[in-house]
Amino acid sequence: MEEEKRKNGAGNLIVLFPFMAQGHLNPFLDLARHLASRTPSLTITIVSTPSNILTLRPRFLSFPTINFVDLPPFQNPKNAENTDALPSLFAISAFYQSSESLKPSFHRLISQLTQSNGGAPPICIISDMFLGFTVDVAHSFGSLHVPLYTSGPYAMSIYNSIWTHLPHRLTCADVLTLPDLPPNITIHGTQLSDNMIKAAASSNYSKDSPTFAARQAEYCRKSDGSLWNTVEVLEKWSLENWAKSSGKPVWAIGPLLPISSKEFERGGKTPGISPVKCAEWLNLHPPKSVVYVSFGSQNSIPLDQMMELAKGLEESEKGFIWVLRNPTGFDVGDEFRSEWLPEGFEERMREKVKGLLVRNWAPQMEILSHGSTGAFLSHCGWNSVLESLSRGVPMIGWPLGSEQFYNSKLLEEELGVCVEMARGVDAKIRAGDVAETVRLVLESEKGEEIRRRAEELEEEMKRAVVEVDGLKGSSVRALDDFVETLMMWGQ
Ligand code: UDX
Repeated sequence: MEEEKRKNGAGNLIVLFPFMAQGHLNPFLDLARHLASRTPSLTITIVSTPSNILTLRPRFLSFPTINFVDLPPFQNPKNAENTDALPSLFAISAFYQSSESLKPSFHRLISQLTQSNGGAPPICIISDMFLGFTVDVAHSFGSLHVPLYTSGPYAMSIYNSIWTHLPHRLTCADVLTLPDLPPNITIHGTQLSDNMIKAAASSNYSKDSPTFAARQAEYCRKSDGSLWNTVEVLEKWSLENWAKSSGKPVWAIGPLLPISSKEFERGGKTPGISPVKCAEWLNLHPPKSVVYVSFGSQNSIPLDQMMELAKGLEESEKGFIWVLRNPTGFDVGDEFRSEWLPEGFEERMREKVKGLLVRNWAPQMEILSHGSTGAFLSHCGWNSVLESLSRGVPMIGWPLGSEQFYNSKLLEEELGVCVEMARGVDAKIRAGDVAETVRLVLESEKGEEIRRRAEELEEEMKRAVVEVDGLKGSSVRALDDFVETLMMWGQ
């Protein structure tokens, strides 16, 4: 019977459970594609709630071994199935917390999948790092559990250490050392997000909702290894350190990237401008002269900061593409108001062909791939980081929350490919500083060094994902090793 099941491929089931947010879904989709193309004997089932499945399924029509299965939607204050459906960023924390209520239905679903798979449970459940509760479900069926971390180990080590120990709770020192990490890795108090500070101040912090991240870290400690959407060359030491401290294998298989902006369109993110129009605009500018400004899939900045950013970009006299989103505090769906920008700004930028303002969503991959793009002013969300570096584009950091502060730290202090311009939503930037930083990265001698380093990393990241003359790049080797582990477990 066992042998029969294996012959039919019935023993080769892998379940992927991504978190329901753009920045988390996309790396999973790319992982599914890699696994399906590399090992056709695996049956890959992607699990999500119905509206997510509806948008995901059409992207995989050409992959016969990838299936989709619905979980019933979970109750959360806004009854959203995806962070895109939330009216504002303030609702995100509750959405994350509520996702844990999916555990019983996930358990039922694995049981059904096992039954329909001839009684063979999945070899492995690969869940998002924020769906750590799935580890108990996996182990109760005798399946492996491996989280896919959609951020890198450098930032996640710091992030988990802070959430687990809230080290700022007992000190008002500016610089904090971090339990679990070597003493040379410190952070500044300004690199803590608002909800970390609130959690530390709360008298019942250990039971309080913001400890969601610490709980997930605790769950994932029970996992059988970890997959990382990162590249060895970016954070070799942190990968080794994670492997050592967890005592489990780590596989750095990135960069897992969206194929193009079409990926997002199918997910309901229609760009405010087509990739072709964007390219036409960029073609009017010299090589590496334009700064691309975007704060990821969900973040925005306060109104006063938006004004200063606009003035600073104008003062820099460099070309820019800016993905405009409603300022913090205004509902995502509200109409954008021209008074949120300096008077006449939009018209001046259009007439001088200096600034291209795009509402809500831009074709990011295409912009970063264009030769005229010279820098990316970003919140340092991990996908944006990987997309930028994989195209050799240096960064200007303005981390806004969560682990973005530590991504920015990695980029500036360890990799030398970024200048951090501001920190947090209350950064109080001034137009002059924006103009100066933009010019520094695009023009100065220091900028030249940063650009050179970014280009080097681009080459090394390309090498990581290919096999040339029998020599496999680091991410190819890691994926091979991961699949071998699965196959051995499945036997
Ligand atoms: C979230 C978290 O905030 C961040 O801390 C974590 O590192 C990843 O998940 P997010 O806002 O989704 O970040 O940003 P990012 O990781 O940069 O991902 C955004 C994705 O949306 C990228 O793939 C980017 O290409 C795409 N995007 C974003 C567009 O294609 N167009 C846009 O206009 C904006």
